[in-house]
Amino acid sequence: MTHPEGPAGVFDRVADTYDAVGVPWFGPIAAGLVAELDVRPGERVLDIGCGRGAALRPLALATGPAGRAVGIDLAPRMVELTARDLSDLPQVTVAVDDARAPRLPASSFDVVSASLVLFFLPDPAAALRAWAGLLVPGGRLGISTFGAQDERWRRLDELFVPYLPQALLDARTSGRSGPFASDAGVAALLEGAGLEGVRTVGRTVEAVFRDPDQLVEFFWSHGQRAMWEAVPPEERDNLRDRIVDLARSIADASGRLALGQEVRWTLGARPAARS
Ligand SMILES: C[S@@+](CC[C@H](N)C(=O)[O-])C[C@H]1O[C@@H](n2cnc3c(N)ncnc32)[C@H](O)[C@@H]1O
Repeated sequence: MTHPEGPAGVFDRVADTYDAVGVPWFGPIAAGLVAELDVRPGERVLDIGCGRGAALRPLALATGPAGRAVGIDLAPRMVELTARDLSDLPQVTVAVDDARAPRLPASSFDVVSASLVLFFLPDPAAALRAWAGLLVPGGRLGISTFGAQDERWRRLDELFVPYLPQALLDARTSGRSGPFASDAGVAALLEGAGLEGVRTVGRTVEAVFRDPDQLVEFFWSHGQRAMWEAVPPEERDNLRDRIVDLARSIADASGRLALGQEVRWTLGARPAARS
């Protein structure tokens, strides 16, 4: 069952608004990952923590009707809505399953992807080992994680800090000193899972908000909702006002804000079978 306070509980509650408030964000991040994975027609692809299909849809389009695209997510509402959204693609299956140990046959996928998922898991190294075992020999794995954050975005996030329990303090990256703090740390995770040819591609992705209100709406629409929910209800209006004031002070004259976030795509492959 989905624990209401765990990540999947929050993602269940945001599923209806996730990636749907007019701010292209998860799509561009997933698109970068899909481009690097270079899926070919007919391949079997698994997207772990598929959410609303930001990566699953382009992966399914790349593999085409001759292939297979499986999405798994622990949040039942994400699965329900994504299965509905992708019902036009017969190669797609979406199911509730746990990224920590997917109940899928070993060596059954050519490609495994997970966009913005690994840092939510309590033991990322163990999860990656499980994911690597789902690949056929020579199969490719790719993940996206966050790199450095725009200083202005960090200041906005910091307004939540006084309210946050320890577990949420670094929810975006799992820490400035842990494996997600550097390219090398994430690469080492993939190498520790037995993957080879590990490489990292990085780029700044910009989130553009029409005005401070849209920024607040965006903050409620995805995993950051967990931060809002940690704020006592009677203090939320006050926090909202402070976010809007700070956003206004860094917006342009029309109220528009463009905030950058470095995104890191890390790729590796299961060693090919020796003949
Ligand atoms: C930040 S969202 C990313 C969703 C999607 N990959 C995208 O790029 O938009 C993280 C997703 O991971 C899922 N998730 C978190 N913990 C999970 C777990 N243990 N097993 C499966 N999915 C999980 C959440 O439900 C959520 O849909």
